[in-house]
Amino acid sequence: MKVFVTGGAGYIGTHTLLQLLAAGHELCVFDNFSNASPVALTRVRQLSNRDFAQVEGDIRDAGALHRALADFAPDAVIHFAGLKAVGESNEKPLLYYENNVTGSVNLLAAMDAAGCRRIVFSSSATVYGEAQYLPFDEDHPIAPTNPYGRTKAMVEGVIADWTKATPNASAVLLRYFNPVGAHESGRIGEDPRDIPNNLMPFVAQVAVGRREKLSIFGDDYDTRDGTGERDYIHVVDLAAAHLAALAYSARATGCEAINVGTGQSITVKELVAAYEAACGHAISAYIAPRRSGDVASSYAATAKAEQLLKWRAELNVNDMCASSWLWQSDNPNGYPIDVSARRR
Ligand code: NAD
Ligand code: UD1
Repeated sequence: MKVFVTGGAGYIGTHTLLQLLAAGHELCVFDNFSNASPVALTRVRQLSNRDFAQVEGDIRDAGALHRALADFAPDAVIHFAGLKAVGESNEKPLLYYENNVTGSVNLLAAMDAAGCRRIVFSSSATVYGEAQYLPFDEDHPIAPTNPYGRTKAMVEGVIADWTKATPNASAVLLRYFNPVGAHESGRIGEDPRDIPNNLMPFVAQVAVGRREKLSIFGDDYDTRDGTGERDYIHVVDLAAAHLAALAYSARATGCEAINVGTGQSITVKELVAAYEAACGHAISAYIAPRRSGDVASSYAATAKAEQLLKWRAELNVNDMCASSWLWQSDNPNGYPIDVSARRR
């Protein structure tokens, strides 16, 4: 199958490319490298021993998207491209609406023009907002608490409307919980450009000596040990969910939102302990005040993914920490800067 992958050079994109290539799909990656390194795509080629088309372009540029889709004529699109930093979205909401919402509208219009009617979209569990009950199932009310989350909820709505108006269209909105970990080779992984916002990359940078200590944001939550609980999902399992969603979209029409998580919660202290076991030394941490906007617990109901996608997570927290540590210790400063790896 021909698959057009926006944002394919990023963290989740690169892990998904490897599985798509292994399954024999023909790919075109469309990325503006605003939060990714071209070296990541070079490594995907090396690891897979396969090649694919690559277009450096911005989803806000409707003309560039139209040309790329018309040239490649895909059977399906996987849409990862987007900005994802909650704090930045509070400071620059219009940038987020333009990039994530306008960019997605442009993409659907270009798909229409190219006759492509299948899309898998990277949504987020953040669309649920504060938990009214747990685990979050897909019928939980949608009430995001920040501009980033609102862009995801808005794009879900746009795609649902597009699906209704487009004969035979098929869309899968994957609501990721907390993606972590790296490929087993240690050659690709998460490479935050600034100070990491998320727990796992921060822990990884403390473990490798890039940062002094971890702030644990609150130990007075109503959880097992007082620290926040999340549903961490191995990025390799998450990548597999995209292949399952593509297969589903070939046998079904309409629009479905589907959680992608393990259904298990892990506290901050439990994750730190697992990371210490993986890296073999203590991780310096102290208890800091709660982070504003944080919830105590978040984890997924997984029945819909199992039923519709025939997919479930296989890897556990030890696999997540071990693979993250392999990536981080082999690449302490992330991907090297190599502009020559960029090609059109
Ligand atoms: P990432 O930043 O590593 O990847 C996003 C990719 O999109 C990058 O390669 C970036 O250069 C590209 N991109 C951004 N804006 C673009 C634009 N205007 N035009 C073309 N390319 C553009 O992030 P990721 O963690 O791989 O996340 C992928 C998707 O999954 C995002 O949409 C994100 O919001 C969503 N998501 C991520 C998480 C997470 O914790 N990582 C959780 C839920 C949802
Ligand atoms: C954050 C985002 C959410 C996004 C998700 C995945 C916020 C408020 N929410 O969620 O919108 O979908 O990332 O990208 O930013 N923690 C620490 N110390 C740290 C970092 C985190 O103790 O340095 C704790 C947090 O308080 C939380 C847990 O670790 O309990 C996980 O945090 P994080 O990785 O940022 O994910 P979320 O809070 O789920």
